[in-house]
Formats: sequence, C-alpha cells, structure tokens
Amino acid sequence: MSRFDKTVALVTGAGHGIGRAIAQQLAKDGAIVSVLEIDMEKGQETVDMLKADGYQAYLVKADIANFEEVETAFAKVAKKFGPIKLLVNNAALSIAGNLEDISLDVWHKEIDVNLNGPYHCIRAIVPSMKAAGGGVIVNISSVNGVRYFGSPSYSAAKAGIISLTQSVASEFGGDGIRCNAVLPGSVRTDAISWTTRLEKDPHIFEKLGRWYPVGRVGEPDDIAKVVSFLGSDEAGFISGVALPVDGGLLAGMNVMIDDFILES
Ligand SMILES: NC(=O)c1ccc[n+]([C@@H]2O[C@H](COP(=O)([O-])OP(=O)(O)OC[C@H]3O[C@@H](n4cnc5c(N)ncnc54)[C@H](O)[C@@H]3O)[C@@H](O)[C@H]2O)c1
Repeated sequence: MSRFDKTVALVTGAGHGIGRAIAQQLAKDGAIVSVLEIDMEKGQETVDMLKADGYQAYLVKADIANFEEVETAFAKVAKKFGPIKLLVNNAALSIAGNLEDISLDVWHKEIDVNLNGPYHCIRAIVPSMKAAGGGVIVNISSVNGVRYFGSPSYSAAKAGIISLTQSVASEFGGDGIRCNAVLPGSVRTDAISWTTRLEKDPHIFEKLGRWYPVGRVGEPDDIAKVVSFLGSDEAGFISGVALPVDGGLLAGMNVMIDDFILES
C-alpha cells in the first residue's frame, strides 16, 4: 500500500528545485499532486514530468503574495480533485543583501512572498481542512530562520514561518490539522541565488560542504523525503516542530573546530 492513498496535495513553487522534488516524491508515494506556480513554463515542466511517470498532476497559477490569487487557485484544485488535504508551502525567493544597504523594496518583497505568501496559503486552506476533519501543512523554512547566514530579510521571513507553524499547530490541532516546518541547509538547486554565486565560484557547493558535518550540501531529494514523511500518517504525533534537514550544520562548527585543532 502507498503512503498516501490518493491524498489531494498541493506544492507551491514546484516548478523548480526542491518543490519539484517534493511534488515527484509525493506523487511516487501515492498523492494526487497539484503544482502552484508563478512561472507557468517551469510549472508545466514539472506537470509534464509527473504525467510522463504515469501520475495525475495539475498546474495552477498564482502569486502567493496575492491572497485572492491563492484562493482562486486552491478553489480550482478543490473543484478538480476535492479538498486539499496536504499543503506544502515551498515557494520563496531569496535576494542577497545586508541590513545596511538593503532597499525598502527588497525587504517588503521578501516578507511579502516568503512570509505573507505561506500565511495566505494557510489562511486559504484552513477552512476546508477543518470542514474535512483535518489535514497536514508542511512549511519550508530554512536554517536562516534560526541562525544568521546573511540575507536578513529572507531570514526574518523564514524565522516568521517557524512561529507561524507553531501558531497553526496549536490553534488548529484540535481540528485535526498538523503543521510542521522543515529547515533545509544549503541545497543544490538552480535557484537564482545559487546560480549567481555559482557564476562567481563554480566550486561553491564543494567549499560549502566543508561546513557540514556529513561533508556535503543537500540535494532536493534529501528535503523531499522528509516532507513526504511529515505529510504522512507515520508522522501523526508530530506537530509544531521546526526540523533542521541540514546534514548537522546547526549542531556544530566543524570548520572552526578544525582551525582550533590545527592551532593547538
Ligand atoms: N536551495 C537552498 O539552498 C535552500 C536552503 C534553505 C531553504 N530553502 C527553501 O526551499 C524552498 C525551495 O527552494 P529552491 O532552492 O528550490 O528555490 P527555487 O528558486 O529553485 O524555486 C522556488 C520556486 O518558487 C516559485 N515562486 C517564487 N515566487 C513565487 C510566488 N510569489 N508565487 C508562486 N511561486 C513562486 C519560483 O517560480 C520557483 O519555481 C524555498 O522555500 C527556499 O527558501 C532552499
């Protein structure tokens, strides 16, 4: 028997990287997956890949920063497959910068997409999850939500998602809704923030791997497998957590320790 028995799932930002891997994993595990994207070309690519593998899939367009667009997209999915029972808030954008020279526009844009976006999706989904007797929400936060690794506006939004996760888990647990956050470390994707850095240094992922106790950065599948588990009944007693999926990055500072050892 599959993990999800035709559970109706929706993954935001599933046209690229981690979101695409999550959509593929959920479909493989038996869910009916809808892809919500602002980039319809990339979203369609994911849907085509899912269909080529023999899965049902559906594409809806929305900018998660716009509540009305999210509501309309969710209603389309519900009309086609029934109420969404598993929501993965994955879509985000990251614009590098530091506090001193970040523009007001960048700050507002990152909070709008990366924090207000997931909130819009949660606001739009909770009534139907309550009516259906429950559901599961998995929010993709980041290690940036609990430590400073640059990108302050992105980090503030990702920290906000952890708090939002706790609010949802606490307030709607009695309605059968579980909500958890996943905190990826660096994951090799073609996100614009990585492609820009890769242009400057083609070995950036190998260099970054030194900071990770497991000796490497993450791959989209590393995150997708955890999201699938958290979305399933196997995780039925897990709610409100912020789970690092980071190869041990937050556990220690290997590069610093290596320097100590060299010096002593
Ligand atoms: N890649 C990493 O190293 C890393 C690390 C920690 C956390 N994360 C998080 O994982 C998630 C996925 O990251 P990724 O690297 O795959 O990113 P990505 O940029 O490759 O993909 C993000 C997707 O979201 C979509 N999107 C962006 N803005 C949108 C909007 N307003 N409305 C709807 N869709 C929108 C994009 O079109 C894109 O397909 C994000 O939440 C990101 O913050 C990534």
